[in-house]
Amino acid sequence: MTQATTPIRPRERDAVIQSLRAGTVPRVGQAHIQVGRVAEVQALLADITRIADGGSGSRFVIGDYGAGKTFFLNLVRSVALEKRLVTVHADLSPDRRLQATGGQARSLYAELMRNLATRAKPDGAALPSVIERFVGQAVAQAREQGVPAEAVIRERLAALTELTGGYDFADVVARYWQGHDTGNEQLTSDAVRWLRAEFSTRTDARNALGVRTIIDDAGFYDHLKLMARFVTFAGYDGLLVCLDEMVNLYKLANTQARNGNYEQILRIVNDSLQGSAAHLGFLFGGTPDFLLDTRRGLYSYPALQSRLAENSFATGGLVDHSGPVLRLANLTPEDYYVLLIKLRHLYAAGDESAYLVPDEALTAYMQHCAQRLGDAFHRTPRHTITGFLNLLAVLEQNPGTDWPAHLGRVEIPVDVDPDLEPLDYSDDGDDDLATVKL
Ligand SMILES: Nc1ncnc2c1ncn2[C@@H]1O[C@H](COP(=O)(O)OP(=O)(O)OP(=O)(O)O)[C@@H](O)[C@H]1O
Ligand SMILES: [Mg+2]
Repeated sequence: MTQATTPIRPRERDAVIQSLRAGTVPRVGQAHIQVGRVAEVQALLADITRIADGGSGSRFVIGDYGAGKTFFLNLVRSVALEKRLVTVHADLSPDRRLQATGGQARSLYAELMRNLATRAKPDGAALPSVIERFVGQAVAQAREQGVPAEAVIRERLAALTELTGGYDFADVVARYWQGHDTGNEQLTSDAVRWLRAEFSTRTDARNALGVRTIIDDAGFYDHLKLMARFVTFAGYDGLLVCLDEMVNLYKLANTQARNGNYEQILRIVNDSLQGSAAHLGFLFGGTPDFLLDTRRGLYSYPALQSRLAENSFATGGLVDHSGPVLRLANLTPEDYYVLLIKLRHLYAAGDESAYLVPDEALTAYMQHCAQRLGDAFHRTPRHTITGFLNLLAVLEQNPGTDWPAHLGRVEIPVDVDPDLEPLDYSDDGDDDLATVKL
């Protein structure tokens, strides 16, 4: 079986194999192993184009445990980077939420900013280089026009001051420039810390930078809007925010805390439906429970339920990728087969003569999995992939050994969704703050 694919860089090969063997989703090089999702990627490509043109958009990527949500989010993220967007991404957790009063929203924001990525820095930590780029362009423009750099910076940032929090944001960027200009590294690093929401008190921020505010829980969304505008001033086309593990909101036992988060999501959805958050897009990854559960999911919030209701015509195998909810079906056995072909190819770094197993081994491995797992096959994507890569690793390190001899020894445990444990509904409606970590 042959494959006409793009050349495989050794670094990418190693990174992809390493993360798959560890049971995690690769952050780069996903395209080498991607199967299916062509229509879904097309739909998101249209979103990315709209965001780059100054529009907005939000999508809920919904799929069962192991359906490939995280993989898909990473894939879209890498497409966005190629299209000159800046991306930020983070997983929600009990300590990281969209709305909070105890620092959890600031903490989510800080995590997003740490993971800020650009095409040149796809692995994250790219915020300083984005600011640097903005400042560099402003300095060049100032030199050309024979005016002070700070004047150009202020003028370019003036548009931000229309937005909530924009004055201080602009001030902090100006401080960064001052630090840059005078070789004051403390000042530049404090400015970056402020933009990453790493100041936890106003007093500290005032002492370090002379601004009166910090990015706190309440500023979560406003600051994403500011950042989306700012990156366009630095020459990028917009900002894509990827939030995974949204099921953590569904798991919040406290109704008030949960609804606060859903209200924040409603603001985001409304803004993107109206196109009023310029150059900004959101991707939310979550399980069907997170969306559909009428007691705790997004559907428990009527305004969201009506906006996110699925197209009732898209049933029985028909799809509609234009709505805000994008359903990811589980990968099929056929998808896995193609995936094995791609993994073998990647493992051999694209050199067919270096394939470690013949096609029969792929079929035999599929049969082995089906026998071991039965219907649990589709629920165990990670172990199916890991098992196959382990088999290849053994064959590579023990040349001359026969694959059939090893095949029988590949263990594939059933992967169980840790979120499947039944939720305790007894807290619902109990808004006693004493019982809740806000
Ligand atoms: N389209 C795809 N092409 C190739 N491999 C994929 C694809 N989608 C998912 N995978 C692989 O399948 C495994 C499971 O995918 P992933 O972790 O993205 O699922 P998930 O829906 O995020 O799961 P969870 O509910 O646990 O968060 C991963 O090893 C991933 O690399
Ligand atoms: Mg995931």
